[in-house]
Amino acid sequence: MAVARPVVLVGCGRLGSALVEGWLRCGPVTAADLIILTRSDTPGAQAARAAGARVNPEMGTLDAAGSVVLAVKPGGWRTAVAPLAGRLADDAVLVSLMAGVRAVDLADALDRPVARVMPTTGVARGEGVAAIWAATHAGRAMGHALFARLAQLVDLDDEALMDAATATAGSAPAFILTLVQALARAGTAHGLSEAAATALARGALRSAASGIAGEDTLEQLIDRVASPGGTTRAGLDASAAHMDAAAQAAIGAAIRRAGELG
Ligand SMILES: NC(=O)c1ccc[n+]([C@@H]2O[C@H](COP(=O)([O-])OP(=O)(O)OC[C@H]3O[C@@H](n4cnc5c(N)ncnc54)[C@H](OP(=O)(O)O)[C@@H]3O)[C@@H](O)[C@H]2O)c1
Repeated sequence: MAVARPVVLVGCGRLGSALVEGWLRCGPVTAADLIILTRSDTPGAQAARAAGARVNPEMGTLDAAGSVVLAVKPGGWRTAVAPLAGRLADDAVLVSLMAGVRAVDLADALDRPVARVMPTTGVARGEGVAAIWAATHAGRAMGHALFARLAQLVDLDDEALMDAATATAGSAPAFILTLVQALARAGTAHGLSEAAATALARGALRSAASGIAGEDTLEQLIDRVASPGGTTRAGLDASAAHMDAAAQAAIGAAIRRAGELG
C-alpha cells in the first residue's frame, strides 16, 4: 500500500538518492507522492523527476505532506528547514536521517513530532538496515511506514543510542572496506601483486557477505571457514585483540564525532 499523504524529501545527495531509488523500486512512496526539495539537480533528483516526482515545486504544495524526511548534512539542517516553518500540517512528522542532530532541536525548530532513522545506503535495493527511535507513537509509526520495505529495522528505546547505532551501521561499511584494503595490503606485502591482492580481498568480502542474510550466527559463519588447527584459525587467534581494539577505536571516534555535530 502506498503512503496516504505526500512525502517531502529535503536533500537528495548520496543517501537521499538511495532513498528515492528504494522507494521507486519497493514502495511505499510513489513518484506521484514524492516532493523533493534540493539545492542541486543531483542524479537522484533527475531520476525522481523523470518518474513523475515534483522537484522544488512552489511551497504551497507542502501543506498536504504527512512527513518531511531530512537528508541534508547535519551542519546545514537549520538553513534547510527554515523555509518549511509555518508551511506544514500540524500532524506532519519530521523524519531525520542526520547523524548527531537531536530530536529536541528539530522539534524546537518546527514543532512537529520527530522520528530519527539511521539507514545504510542499501535502502536503494531494499537491502538496508536502519536504526529507528522516536518519542511518540506517530513518529515511530511514520519511520516504520517509510522504511519497512527498504531496510531491516532495529528499534531503539533510547535516543542516546542513536550515535552508537550510527557508528555500528551507517559508518561501519567504510570500516569494513578499510579492513578489506588492509588485507589486500598485507597480501601485497607477502608477494601478491597489488591487482591480485585487491581482487582476492574483494572476492573474500563477497564470500563473507553471501551468508549474512541467512539464519546462521556470526560464530557459525566464522566456524564454517575456520577449521580447528587450520590456517584461518591461526590468523584469527593472532588478530583477535587487534580487531577489537581497531573496532573500539573506530566506533568510539565516530560516536564522539556525532556528539559534536548538529
Ligand atoms: N551517506 C550515508 O551513507 C548516510 C548514512 C546514514 C545517514 N546519513 C546522513 O544523511 C545526511 C546526508 O548525507 P549524504 O551522504 O547524503 O550527504 P550529501 O551527499 O552531501 O547530500 C546532502 C544533499 O543535501 C543538499 N542540501 C544541502 N543543503 C540543502 C538545502 N538547504 N536544501 C536542499 N538541499 C540541501 C546538498 O546539496 P549540495 O550538493 O548543493 O550541497 C546535497 O545534495 C547526513 O546528515 C548524514 O548524517 C548518511
